[in-house]
Parts: sequence; structure tokens; C-alpha cells
Amino acid sequence: MQVLLLGAGTVTSRLNMQLAEQGHAVVAQIAAFTPQHLDLFDFRALVVVSPEASVAPEGLVQAAERGKLLFVIAGVGDGMSAWANGVGVPALAYPPSEVDVHKLFEEMRRAEAGNLAADDQYRRAVLGSDLSARLQSGMAVRKIAITSPKGGTGKTTVAVNLAVALALSGITTYLVDADGNAGALQYHLRMERVQTTMIGLLRREVAKAGRGVMGDVASGAAYLNAFTPLENLPTLRVLPGLITDDLGDEVLQQEDKVAEVIQGLYEAGVAAGGVVIMDVGINPAHVVHRAALKAAEGIAIVIKPEIPDLAETRRWIARMIRSLASVVGRGSAQEFVGSRVKLCYNQVVGDGFKSAHKLLQQALSEDQIELALIPNGILPIVDPRLAAQAVNSDRREDILVWRYRKEKLEELGPFAEALLGFAAHFVPAVREGAARIGLLPAAPKKRGWFRK
Ligand SMILES: Nc1ncnc2c1ncn2[C@@H]1O[C@H](COP(=O)(O)OP(=O)(O)O)[C@@H](O)[C@H]1O
Ligand SMILES: [Mg+2]
Repeated sequence: MQVLLLGAGTVTSRLNMQLAEQGHAVVAQIAAFTPQHLDLFDFRALVVVSPEASVAPEGLVQAAERGKLLFVIAGVGDGMSAWANGVGVPALAYPPSEVDVHKLFEEMRRAEAGNLAADDQYRRAVLGSDLSARLQSGMAVRKIAITSPKGGTGKTTVAVNLAVALALSGITTYLVDADGNAGALQYHLRMERVQTTMIGLLRREVAKAGRGVMGDVASGAAYLNAFTPLENLPTLRVLPGLITDDLGDEVLQQEDKVAEVIQGLYEAGVAAGGVVIMDVGINPAHVVHRAALKAAEGIAIVIKPEIPDLAETRRWIARMIRSLASVVGRGSAQEFVGSRVKLCYNQVVGDGFKSAHKLLQQALSEDQIELALIPNGILPIVDPRLAAQAVNSDRREDILVWRYRKEKLEELGPFAEALLGFAAHFVPAVREGAARIGLLPAAPKKRGWFRK
């Protein structure tokens, strides 16, 4: 792999030769490291020979945040060795013995093979190793579908920002494009080279079934390998692109297979300790959408607080309950929908959503649907210029919450805070992670209605 080697002494120079012998490409060997080097050189791993280099832990934290793999060689009692051990970065004694050097190469091979190493380093180095362990227990709803009964309400915007917010907060997040009509994740995330796409994965699995490959249940690893990791946010992996204009497409005729793949993606992400978010298109009768909604533990319905959206939502909920009721009975159907659906009002101006929400409640009770839906998310409209840059600029970091994290633009504060509030309905631990990286104020703000 591409290595940036830090140090300017005999041990470093020797290591430089040995790395080359092992087939690694040392892009540069430098004595003093600054975060600017992260932009100057293209590399995957940073190998630090601490006693021969000038580098501060803060610089290494920034490298971990950018998804670089870190390896440290440091003297016993050296501050760098204490730091590395504290955050779980592989650390070897200085000067390293032959055995140590072999251990280093072994660690590098392992990290290269299992792409989970970088996200763990991000968690430990950027958020702190104490929090890293706690995050795992604070995830209530790990299989999340984001949908809406109408187009253009902000499904993809919410899915992408929710995923980035969770990922920045240290939660490994698998983001899937399951929109059969208007998949757009590859644009939002500026992805050029991808491992595969949703339609590619479906074709592969359907082809296997067509050849009668029995018992060839795709393993969790095969599903995880379908995701493309982002080099500058190691906690986020993406499976883009379910685009086919051909409704007669063979893969869409095999509902069982589609359901198996969707389920497999959810299960694999959860088994790997993460959260899976699917961006699901508007038509719940589409085979992919139906499978993604059915297997979800939480369904976010993104709507604008406007009459046409409310009318569609009313119909969507009624249809969902009707179709479930024929299988499990009306009571259970209502329970299923009530326990899973989380409403997210988007592009909200002022508190107009309150009267809209009342209208929706009223309409549902007129339909004899007993659901106590609450507005779980209330996302304000953001400056259209910033919303456009979030998809049009050439920087992936212009995605709204990511940009807020980097630039602290005041205009984006309310959106980021509201989004994290919505995210906490699924993953309560996100608050702690977000506070650690400065995405949220550490102490929860007092709300108006708590005041006397
Ligand atoms: N909170 C918001 N503030 C401003 N513009 C938004 C907001 N949410 C979404 N948009 C814009 O609305 C349009 C539709 O959003 P998108 O996420 O693509 O919707 P969908 O996936 O439901 O079709 C996009 O131009 C997007 O930038
Ligand atoms: Mg969309």
C-alpha cells in the first residue's frame, strides 16, 4: 500500500528499504509532519518512527479523521507510545527487532485486508477510546429506511446527512441507494470509482440463482464487500445506484431474491456493528422498495408540511396498514406502522408544521386509524445556495452537516442540530459522539416549554 514514512534516522531509512521489499510504495519519507501533508501526498498508511520524527498526536488524529491507517514505532515511555496504546493504534518498540518489523508488516497486511481498521481508528483517535466502546451499546434502531410518499421532499438529503452525521459521530454507517426511480447517492457523495452498485449486486445474485447454485447464500462478507468505503470518512460505506429504466428488468421479477439481498445487506451491516440506512423511493409497490420497508426496524417518512404531502402521507399510511392487515390483522398492522414510522418534516419555515401535523392527525382519525404519530424530526429549510453546493460543488465535504462540522457556518447550525435530534430517535449514542467532535453543544439546550 501507499505509505508516508515519518522519520530521518537510520531506523527509518532501513525501514524504508524493507517496506519497498515487501511491495509497499513509500510515497515520501519526511522528518517533520504537519497536517498539510495530508493534502500534499496521496497515501493510505502513515508509519511513524517517533524518535526520529517530529510529529504531534494532534496531527495523527487529523490523519485518522481522514481515514489514514496509523502505525507507530516509539520508545518505551515515549509520549507517542502512550498515545498509540491509549487509542489502539498498533505500536512497536524502538528500535524495532526483526520480529517487530515482521509484526508491523503483518499488521499492515491485516489492515489492508479487513477494511474495518480505519473506522475503528477514527473512533478511537478522533472521539476517544472511552467513548468508542460506549457507542456500540447506544444504537436502538439499526435498520433504517428513509422514504416519502412524494418526490422531492428531501429523502436523499435526509438519508445522506443522517448517514454523515452518524459516521462523523463515530458510528459505522452503511448507506444504500434503494431508490428504484431516482437513485442519486453517487452524485451526493461524488463517487467515481465504486466497488459495485445496487443493481450490479442484484444482477450478480439473480444470475447465481438462475444458474441453480444451491445453498450459495451470500455471506455477510460478500455483502459488506459490495460497499465502497470513502477515503475521507472511514466510518461511512456506500452502495450507490439502483438505476434501471427497464421495469421488465429480470432482476426485478424475482421478488424473493430481491428480498433476500435487501435483508442480507441490513443483516451484514448490523452484524459488523454498524447501522444501515436505505434511501427508498416513493412507490411502495416497487419490489425493492417493498423489501426495504418490510425489513426495516425504523421507517423515516420525509415530508414537507404542505397539503399535497399530507394527503399523500395519509394515503400511504392507510395503504400500508391495509396491505399488512390482510396478513396479520388490523390491530397488529397499526402496531407495526406505529412502532416503526418516524415522521420527519423537512424544509420547514417557522412553526407552520404544527398546523400541518394537526391536519394529518385529523385525517388519520377520520380514516379510523389510531396512530399517535409525533413529529420526530423538524428540519428547517436551509439557504438554497448552500443546499445547491451540497450536491453541486466538487467537494464531498460540502454535504450540509459535514460542512457545518468543518466550517461552523451559522446558517447551517439549526439544520445540523435538528438533524442530530432526529438521528437520536434511532441511535441515541449519536449525541455523545456529536458533542465530542463539536457538532453539538455538550450540554443539551433547554427547550422553551421546560421553562416556567
Ligand atoms: N432542508 C432543506 N433545505 C433546503 N433545500 C432542501 C432541503 N432538503 C432538501 N432540499 C432540496 O430539495 C430538493 C430535493 O431534495 P432530495 O433530497 O433530492 O429529495 P428526494 O430524494 O426526496 O427526491 C433538492 O434540491 C435539495 O437540495
Ligand atoms: Mg432522492
